[in-house]
Amino acid sequence: MKRKLLVTTALPYANGSFHIGHIMEYIQADIWVRFQRMQGHTVHFVCADDAHGAPIMLKAEAEGVTPQQLIGRIGAERKQYLDGFHIGFDNWHSTESPENTELSQDIYRKLKVAGLIYTKPVEQFYDPVKGMFLADRYIKGECPKCGAKDQYGDACENCSSVYSPTNLINPYSTLSGAAPELKTSEHYFFRLSDAKCVDFLNKWVNEHGRLQSQVANKAKEWLEGKEDKALGDWDISRDAPYFGIPIPDAPGKYFYVWLDAPIGYLASFKNYCAKKGIDFDGFLADPQTEQIHFIGKDIIYFHTLFWPAMLKFAGYKIPNNVYVHGFITVSGEKMSKSRGTGISPLRYLEIGMNPEWLRYYIAAKLNANVEDLDFNPDDFIARVNSDLIGKYINIASRTFGFITRHFDGKTSSIELSDADADSFKDLIERHGEVRYGNPNSTIDRRSLTEITKLALKNDIAVLYDRREYSHAIRQIMFQADVANGFATLCAPWDMSKIVRGEWTPWKSDHLDKKIAEKLLHWSCSVLVDQFRLLTIYLKPILPETAAQAMRLLNMSSIEWAEESKHFPAGHSIRDYDRLMTRVEEKQLDALFDIPAAAPAKEQKKMTETSKVGSQSRSQAVPSPSTPHPTSPGPAAPTAPAETISIDDFARIDLRVAKIVRAEYVEGADKLLKLTLNIGAGERTVFAGIKSAYDPAALEGRLTVMVANLAPRKMKFGLSQGMVLAASGDAAGIYLLGVDSGAQPGMKVK
Ligand code: 2FM
Ligand code: ZN
Repeated sequence: MKRKLLVTTALPYANGSFHIGHIMEYIQADIWVRFQRMQGHTVHFVCADDAHGAPIMLKAEAEGVTPQQLIGRIGAERKQYLDGFHIGFDNWHSTESPENTELSQDIYRKLKVAGLIYTKPVEQFYDPVKGMFLADRYIKGECPKCGAKDQYGDACENCSSVYSPTNLINPYSTLSGAAPELKTSEHYFFRLSDAKCVDFLNKWVNEHGRLQSQVANKAKEWLEGKEDKALGDWDISRDAPYFGIPIPDAPGKYFYVWLDAPIGYLASFKNYCAKKGIDFDGFLADPQTEQIHFIGKDIIYFHTLFWPAMLKFAGYKIPNNVYVHGFITVSGEKMSKSRGTGISPLRYLEIGMNPEWLRYYIAAKLNANVEDLDFNPDDFIARVNSDLIGKYINIASRTFGFITRHFDGKTSSIELSDADADSFKDLIERHGEVRYGNPNSTIDRRSLTEITKLALKNDIAVLYDRREYSHAIRQIMFQADVANGFATLCAPWDMSKIVRGEWTPWKSDHLDKKIAEKLLHWSCSVLVDQFRLLTIYLKPILPETAAQAMRLLNMSSIEWAEESKHFPAGHSIRDYDRLMTRVEEKQLDALFDIPAAAPAKEQKKMTETSKVGSQSRSQAVPSPSTPHPTSPGPAAPTAPAETISIDDFARIDLRVAKIVRAEYVEGADKLLKLTLNIGAGERTVFAGIKSAYDPAALEGRLTVMVANLAPRKMKFGLSQGMVLAASGDAAGIYLLGVDSGAQPGMKVK
């Protein structure tokens, strides 16, 4: 059955640019939306700026512009981020809009008719100079418990005691410095404590599948309340001056921003419907329509209590699901909501990093739980280069060329006759014996044909639908591993050499050549087909790469429904063209780098991040598991790193090392294996310097090594330290030298 979905992400405040937390949420939702569309479902995906409230009003005032000008400026910035990360909202609107005013006032009026609105006087601090009531965050004073100065109105940072602003000693307004006065005004309340609201919410929250269990539990806690903290009514009004929507028939009163913000979801959708000729009321009235909100864990309260209750008792459609994600941290560091983390999404794009790397990385780490996601630069490099490129892209880059070169770009059937299976098996075994010294005894006909049946459609679809992206990617990469294993087994690169007569591993006769050619054609066709499947699976995450792949595969569409249809024999594919480049370590350096002109405060923030984010990436030869910076890229010049103390430096045990042996490492394209004498014995180090040095030329040389680096277990063996080398933006790696006379083991300080 086809679904009808209205999907939203939380509306960002319109007083600041997007930070990486916003982008993560949008990527999560965008992947889900793209997946649902691939299933043939109808999805409307909308968002808007959250434009109202005191902070925006005050910021505009401080800048000498109107709030409308401020939000207009921020609104105009949005597109470059959204397009940049391939986030395909159907509509971007604003809560400062006629649709939102109309909807908010309508919902309010209906709640009033339902008997859920009342007024009562509220005593609150008032700034006599600014002429406005002060939210708690604009009041400071001395802590009533410990006397610490300049504490906020809710809690003391010094002694952690909690109080209300009226308890502060010598309170002052942070806006004008004036002593605030207590003043009473009439406020409007939404009677959330009403039995019918509580009953409804209890049912809504507990409905199976509606909320993640952690979220439902949180909402239940609030609903049940503690004895002293039963669910309270909600103060929905603010007094002028306020940037917001006027409350009908209440001069000088405005809706509190959190009342009209979620209504902005509907306002954006309504605006979209008008542009597209969609029946807004009809779509929402359809019982089949699902309304789904993606949000962060900090705004659960608003979305699981106020929002559904407002909608319900105003007679609107109630949300079907609220999908909550955690925060993004960078190398374990928490981000600040207003400043974000040290990763600037715009810088990411400006330095030419591929947006699909980030989409893939985020997907590879996201699941359906409310867990924080940590961005770790080394992990990022590994996931992109080893998995995405090393496994998925690799399948295309190592097979397309053979089809175009040998077979005029035409694939063969991937069906395998018993006779072919037997002759392939025989050839593969003989090849294995020559190439690897052992025939692969496990191949049989079945294992050869199995790959042609490998399709995980259902599992992967279910995982996407449940937002278990990291699990889906594990499945997809498992399939990519199988395909790559199959490639190793069939070794098209060797078969091609046999066919061309460039390699005669055994006295291959004419018949062998014929079989090799057939095997080459068949195995590459199977791999092209596997690549097609993997592209379908990854398309929600990598829309741009999928579009390019579709072109190479010469297909007019690449859709889930086509998953089970293999290519017919004789399908023409195009010449392979690079689909994606590897991420380089220096690009991450540039991402965390401090732009020279950044204000001091910004510089500090970025340095702190790079401290944790890019440790061990200065001049040391990169750890062997990551690619090293040898080719020029868009990296900005690196500013000197943060100052460290002499004690910090002394912790690094640098020693003169003599290179006793330098060897190539089988299967490693960047590494050399070095055996180093450091006086007290020998060490093995894998260093990413193969592109720059001939091993023979290194033997006998003195260099410098970090002797107390924790050993790292690698694919090729244990690396027991690191040698030092210099590198910059241009190609080239330069191993450090030591003047003659120095002895192995001498300390470098
Ligand atoms: O927390 C925030 O950033 C709010 N601007 C989210 C609003 S979500 C929805 F209710 F509009
Ligand atoms: Zn205190």
